[in-house]
Amino acid sequence: MLFNREKPVDDQTLDRLAERAADLMAGAKRIVVFTGAGVSTESGIPDFRSPGGIWDRFDPDDFTYQKFISEAETRRKQWQLLWKDRLTETVQPNPAHHAIAELHRLHKLDCVITQNVDSLHLTAGVPEDKVFELHGSMRRVTCLQCGRQYPMAEIKKRLHAGEDVPDCEACHGILKPDIVLFGEMLPDRVLAEATSRAEKCDLFVVVGSSLVVYPAALLPGYAVDSGARLIIINLSETPMDGRANIIIRAKAGEAMTRIIQKLAEKMSG
Ligand code: APR
Repeated sequence: MLFNREKPVDDQTLDRLAERAADLMAGAKRIVVFTGAGVSTESGIPDFRSPGGIWDRFDPDDFTYQKFISEAETRRKQWQLLWKDRLTETVQPNPAHHAIAELHRLHKLDCVITQNVDSLHLTAGVPEDKVFELHGSMRRVTCLQCGRQYPMAEIKKRLHAGEDVPDCEACHGILKPDIVLFGEMLPDRVLAEATSRAEKCDLFVVVGSSLVVYPAALLPGYAVDSGARLIIINLSETPMDGRANIIIRAKAGEAMTRIIQKLAEKMSG
């Protein structure tokens, strides 16, 4: 399923919408920011469902957990096509990540719930206890047989030295990055805490997600059902648009930077 981009709003509309979003943030006590791959595209990481995105080039059915553990060819494809060069060390947070970290520094951020595995919210300065990584992270790789853990950088070196499918040095078991593949359960403690934060917040801000992958996509609904306001910053439509108080069709970096600048002015005024 691919989503066509809508035309981004003009600057004047963006400014008006950013002003309204900053007002909601100024009056909120517990802001949860929920991010997807769209918050990282301006860092050079392609998203999944935009034209040209990952699932435009590969079939997600080929990359399920079941196939990963049962087929060597799937493991080769995952390592060589999806993971080897995707999250290089050179990838840096972009203005959207920095704006979200600024929300934390303004003491307005309850937490970030992210579907991304790139750790860019941590790199941008949001403390670990305020980032819930629903789909895990690429920082570490674990042996599915003996549990031995490796830093991803070490495995990448082996891949770039020519290894096709890295296996465990200790037991030659299957190595898998600590991320959630299709068909795999989400880390239940992380999901439980993220659900609780969504239900307790008074403002839920979606940044760069198509909101079509469950159970993550249930969280904005939990927040609204519990009385929170909803802001969606996304270049294309989402199934939650009908329940949003504000929808901003703009690039995450520009929109979030403008909103946080306005919020900081309101808070210092
Ligand atoms: N600014 C704003 N929105 C953007 C930007 C940007 N710079 N770039 C992309 N977008 C929007 C796209 O229009 C799209 O609607 O971000 C959304 C990204 O959606 P997806 O590619 O579906 O990514 P995501 O929602 O994170 O996918 C969820 O699916 O494949 C699985 O595990 C994977 O975590 C991922 C999950």
